Order: sequence, then structure tokens, then C-alpha cells
Amino acid sequence: MSQFEMLKLCRASLARYGFMNSCRLLVDDYLFDLKHGTKTAGIYSKSRIENSNPTLQGTVVQYQGTSSRLFQAAMKDLDSSVLKGDFIDFGCGRGKVLLMALDYPFKKLHGVELSDKLVQEAEENLKNYCAKKKKNPLASIYLGDARFYQIPPTATVFFFYNPFTWSIFEHVAENIKESLRRHPRETRLIYINDLHWKELEKKEMQCVSRGSEFRINYSVWNPLVV
Ligand SMILES: C[S@@+](CC[C@H](N)C(=O)[O-])C[C@H]1O[C@@H](n2cnc3c(N)ncnc32)[C@H](O)[C@@H]1O
Repeated sequence: MSQFEMLKLCRASLARYGFMNSCRLLVDDYLFDLKHGTKTAGIYSKSRIENSNPTLQGTVVQYQGTSSRLFQAAMKDLDSSVLKGDFIDFGCGRGKVLLMALDYPFKKLHGVELSDKLVQEAEENLKNYCAKKKKNPLASIYLGDARFYQIPPTATVFFFYNPFTWSIFEHVAENIKESLRRHPRETRLIYINDLHWKELEKKEMQCVSRGSEFRINYSVWNPLVV
């Protein structure tokens, strides 16, 4: 990232989250990597992601990992029944959320990511993390546009850290509903930095909880099948 981009990001972060929250987010990000021997921190710019996928220009959100505190807060009220299925992170970036999801009793973890460079980095992180923690790498990553990802009938938790614009999200939300129509089951959708929560409501998703950490809003949804 150029110095100019870095400066722009710092200014945006300070304006949005305030000084203390920006510092906490930064520390949370780098401490995670220090503790686990991974490389998930930092930003991967929107323009780099879009360059390799020009048709999706204007729909992509830059890579930035979810803070561990935010992840734990959003996961804390999930019912044990949905924790026993599969977990999907739509727009998994460097794989930080998949690494954190390894601490829960999911059967399998799935990442979906548009950038081949980020998929490579996520796979490297999974390999190193699992070797260090002596954990079974239960995760697989799909490289491509989330709209074309086939949702496994065993998936019970759908995770989104504001990865794309509503034009893409709407397709994915429809795919989730279609998967539930074909294979009815209890599921939850976790949405961090939930800019499109009003649109989700219109898709007959029922909000079951809502919260905020570091001035970032998150919400948990029950996708209803009607
Ligand atoms: C804000 S990051 C979230 C990273 C990760 N989920 C986390 O929380 O640590 C958003 C990610 O979504 C990816 N993305 C954007 N549009 C996508 C699409 N259409 N299909 C799949 N991934 C996409 C970006 O490349 C980026 O890595």
C-alpha cells in the first residue's frame, strides 16, 4: 500500500471510529498475528481486488480482518444447534475469521473469496495456524464471486463482514433462501458493519440480536423461509 493510501485510511478510520477505537482495532489486529504466527492484519485495497476482476468494479469492499473482540461478541448468542453444522465466511480475505471459527464445534469451515492473492494468503495462514495449534484444518476455500458459490446443505452459519455492495449481497441472500427452501434447517446469518440491514429485513430475514464494538455495528439474523 502506498504512503498516500495509508494516510487516507488512517484519516478515514479516525473519522469513523475515533482515536481510541482506531488504536484498539490496530492493536487487536496485530496482536492476533503476533500470538498465532499468522499474517492477517492490515488492508488489501479495493483497487487491487478489482484489478483482477474488472467486471465487479464498484461492488467490492477492501480487505480488512474482523477484530477478534467483534467476532466473539457476534458469536456469543448463537444456539448450540447452529454451531454443530458448517460455517461459511463470504469474502474470507486472509482467513482470519476462519481461524477464529476453528475454536467452535463446527463440522466444516468454508471461505469464499474473489482475490486469488488473498486465497493464497488465507491458505498459508490456515496451514501455519493449524500446525502451531495442532488442529485439524477443516477449512476449504472457494476462489470466485460469492454469487456463484454453491451453498452446502450442511451450512448453518453465514458470516459477512460487509464484503460487497447490495447488488451482490442480494444474490447471495437469495441463494441462502433457496438452499433453505430445498433443505430446511435452523441457520443464522452474522452481519458485521451491517450497512444493508434494512434491505435484509425486506428479504424476510428476522433480526435476532444487534450490538456494537469499537463503534462498528453488527447484527444476527434468522433467515425465514416463506
Ligand atoms: C471486509 S473484507 C472481510 C474479510 C474477512 N471476512 C474477515 O472478516 O476477516 C471483505 C472481503 O470480501 C471480498 N469480496 C468482495 N467482493 C466479493 C465477491 N463478489 N465474492 C467473494 N468475495 C468478495 C474482498 O476481496 C475482501 O477480501
